[in-house]
Amino acid sequence: MFGVNYPIIQAGMIWASGWRLASAVSNAGGLGLIGSGSMYPDVLREHIQKCKAATSKPFGVNVPLLYPDIDKHIQIIIDAGVKIVFTSAGNPKTWTNVLKEKEITVVHVISSSKFAKKSEEAGCDAVVAEGFEAGGHNGREETTTMVLTPAVVNEVKIPVIAAGGIATGRQMLAAMVMGAEGVQMGTRFVASEEASSHSNFKDAVINSNEGDTMLTLKQLTPVRLIKNNFYKAIEEAEQRGASVEELKVLLGRARAKKGMFEGQLEEGELEIGQVCANVRNILPAAKIVDEVWREFKKALANPIKMT
Ligand SMILES: Cc1cc2nc3c(=O)[nH]c(=O)nc-3n(C[C@H](O)[C@H](O)[C@H](O)COP(=O)(O)O)c2cc1C
Repeated sequence: MFGVNYPIIQAGMIWASGWRLASAVSNAGGLGLIGSGSMYPDVLREHIQKCKAATSKPFGVNVPLLYPDIDKHIQIIIDAGVKIVFTSAGNPKTWTNVLKEKEITVVHVISSSKFAKKSEEAGCDAVVAEGFEAGGHNGREETTTMVLTPAVVNEVKIPVIAAGGIATGRQMLAAMVMGAEGVQMGTRFVASEEASSHSNFKDAVINSNEGDTMLTLKQLTPVRLIKNNFYKAIEEAEQRGASVEELKVLLGRARAKKGMFEGQLEEGELEIGQVCANVRNILPAAKIVDEVWREFKKALANPIKMT
């Protein structure tokens, strides 16, 4: 479907996946995605141009549908001749037809079987089933990748890509045993040399352990964050029954940029998945693709421990 060597997709991620990361992953045989959610339209145009110059392999753009300038982003993607779009955080019916008319492959990210079905009905070519473990914005229902993947595979006929909690070849194999035809990895690629995230954030990711992230802000848009001072302030506010308006004020503007791009580890928003507990080094993106694929093949040859 994507014309890539390996079914390994580098997730589109705000403040992390610009043209450097996307082109490095695509050059290594995976599918790189530019994360447009933190880009002004002109910045997105520039990243697409630079990505095209840096790779002759297929790459795509992730488009969170809640983005205010969404129509401008879509037009830029069409004009630039991008052939693969991953949409998320919105209704798949809104833009899929427009993109399909331009012969763009459209994949929508969902966190429930119900929305997987809606994506299929909307004409999407595939879905990403993103479980509760995942970094970034997430479903309210807390369905884990382990439960969501087979449920979505049963629900739809289009291919399913698993996401959330996958950073190694063994985890990839587990997802594919459950019926996924590919995997999307975010957290593992934040800890890459080419990710545009601040080095403080990358270091925090590889030093985080089990229990260090939590899904929060469920009253606004649920998001999985590292538990820092900002996270604790939200928790306190929610426990004393703060209104949605108060939470919005607390969140303020540009929190995610502050944390992930500018490296303010206590006052910024640090989006990352549970699987950071399994990620211990920052590597070149090509090495990550290579390691995951090698481990996947090794695990496939010897998948279970027999005593
Ligand atoms: C730092 C960060 C930023 C993210 N930004 C986006 C985004 O802009 N759009 C989107 O669809 N998903 C976003 N996500 C979710 C990823 O696309 C992906 O589905 C998720 O990271 C997979 O789970 P994992 O972190 O366990 O690998 C983000 C995730 C992280 C860690």
